[in-house]
Amino acid sequence: MVKFICADSETEAGRVAAEIMAEVIRIRPDALIGLATGSTPINMYSYLADMYRAGELSFKDVRSVNLDEYVGLPPTHVQSYAHFMSENLFSHVDIRAENCHIPSGTADTDAECERYDRLLDRLGRVDIQLLGIGHNGHIAFNEPDSHFPKDTVRVRLTDSTVEANSRFFASRDEVPTEAISMGIGRILRAKRILLLATGAGKADILERALFGRITPAVPASILQFYQGELTVVADRPAMSVILSKHPDVLT
Ligand code: F6R
Repeated sequence: MVKFICADSETEAGRVAAEIMAEVIRIRPDALIGLATGSTPINMYSYLADMYRAGELSFKDVRSVNLDEYVGLPPTHVQSYAHFMSENLFSHVDIRAENCHIPSGTADTDAECERYDRLLDRLGRVDIQLLGIGHNGHIAFNEPDSHFPKDTVRVRLTDSTVEANSRFFASRDEVPTEAISMGIGRILRAKRILLLATGAGKADILERALFGRITPAVPASILQFYQGELTVVADRPAMSVILSKHPDVLT
């Protein structure tokens, strides 16, 4: 079942996504939440931090797993995803450090993939998994490929992803070319998925992913097979192609 929510602005999309996430945590205070990084969820994290500050939400017993990390970056690196999570959410709320899980970018990569999968096995099914979508249809760092990876994998980032991510680094040369990513099989085990997309740049790929051919060349297209509850929250520009080709999705 897919539910589409079209928000009037990027900020509003973040607020709606935060409300959905908060609802899951209120129902289950020790929820296991799956988190993503990138520009898209920054607003959502800021709303979640506001809710915590206002006394409306506690992360005291919440557990989290992140989708990915750059290979080679220690958590102290300002562009590491561990640092991103700390800056955008963890340091602003009462979540316990020992309950926050992110793949290590500096451990032996193969051993780290194995360790992360065992950890995911131990933690059990994610209650709600947040996803962004790359311009090439990647989810987590599962890049277009000939197959859908099942388990946590070491991935070589495509040139287009390195290019897209270079906006955060001083130069393109500094962008890591590899990452550790939760595999698609693992992502699909979540009880619920919240796909957040904003900006006109995501409009085409969002439509192709959710209505086009299911192919590992568009990794997010696997979401069409997802058996759980999929909620797509997008602002109007990101939703524009879907709304023009499939106008009844909001009814
Ligand atoms: C990051 C992640 C990526 C991003 C995607 C979109 O943890 O999983 O798949 O969600 O690259 O990134 P932004 O939001 O920067 O457009």
